Amino acid sequence: KPRLFSGMQPSADSLHIGNYVGALLQWREQQTTHDALFCVVDMHAITVAQDPATLRESTRRTAAQYIAAGIDPTLSTLFIQSHVPAHAQLAWVLNTLTGFGEASRMTQFKDKAAKQGADSASLGLFAYPTLMAADILLYGAEVVPVGDDQRQHVELTRDLATRFNSRFGPTFVVPEATIQKESARVYDLQNPESKMSKSAATESGVVWMLDEPNRTAKKIKSAVTDTEREIRFDRGAKPGVSNLLTIQSAFTGTSVAALEEQYAGRGYGDLKKDVAEVVVETFTPIRARALELLDDPAELDRVLAGNADRANEIAQSTLDTVHDRIGFLRKA
Ligand code: TYM
Repeated sequence: KPRLFSGMQPSADSLHIGNYVGALLQWREQQTTHDALFCVVDMHAITVAQDPATLRESTRRTAAQYIAAGIDPTLSTLFIQSHVPAHAQLAWVLNTLTGFGEASRMTQFKDKAAKQGADSASLGLFAYPTLMAADILLYGAEVVPVGDDQRQHVELTRDLATRFNSRFGPTFVVPEATIQKESARVYDLQNPESKMSKSAATESGVVWMLDEPNRTAKKIKSAVTDTEREIRFDRGAKPGVSNLLTIQSAFTGTSVAALEEQYAGRGYGDLKKDVAEVVVETFTPIRARALELLDDPAELDRVLAGNADRANEIAQSTLDTVHDRIGFLRKA
């Protein structure tokens, strides 16, 4: 089976419906067809200001939500990035092969640095992409499913793999990004022109996986639409309705075209009611399972430790090869 790697940053209280549709849904499918590793990237999370107690808690909560949403830790390798030291070690080597100008061109860095004021952005934020390259290259991943915003980072990963291979001999698999289709992108319910995100302006635009069911239903029923009446997919003219159709399609497995037909002549209220229903129906057991897992953190931590051991074995062997190739003297 082809090797696959993907990851998410830990999220404060809960993952949102965008993480579910854009990542977890595909991961769940892919774990049966691929040799998959899914990581909670806590080391990436500290590249911006963070609170230690919150980080610890959200790392565990994120892992619990992966499992509750259907990632099977006996089938896939589900682990915490900082539990495998080779990530930091390989990132260091990759830093020495990355040009200052090359890293400066990363648009995510430019955006995040601009938000903080360029002078207060950390060296860690600058090196975010090389740590991500290390994540992928340690495991010889061929396939990297990500959202479009991560395309540039996977391109850099490919360049670094190729550069290392030509300088020090064939070592790394050059990975391929599998970019999620536009239909896998969920937008803010109150502001459907921007992507749903953890740091959204209004709380009511984001549906959290661990939200109370009636809060979830309420948020969906008050989603912004438009003044027409027709239910059809048109991202430009009807972003709100298109977003609801995307969600409905992802949760039911029915194509958007079939939904358009099904809703012909019906009102936005009907669509919202159905979306709310299917989302609540899907998230209720996931929420229950996540809370149950979090009720027994010792058991969850044990599962994560076992998975980290599995990841560590692969990662350490790649790192040993890398250290050999670049000329580090082996410890006797
Ligand atoms: P992160 O944590 O920003 O995003 C995690 C995943 O969730 C998807 N996503 C969305 N999909 C649809 N609609 C949305 N509104 C939405 N919001 C988020 C993202 O596309 C992503 O797939 N740098 C990576 C994490 C990472 C990684 C890696 C990924 C670290 N190392 C190695 C792959 C391979 C990130 O930004 O995740």
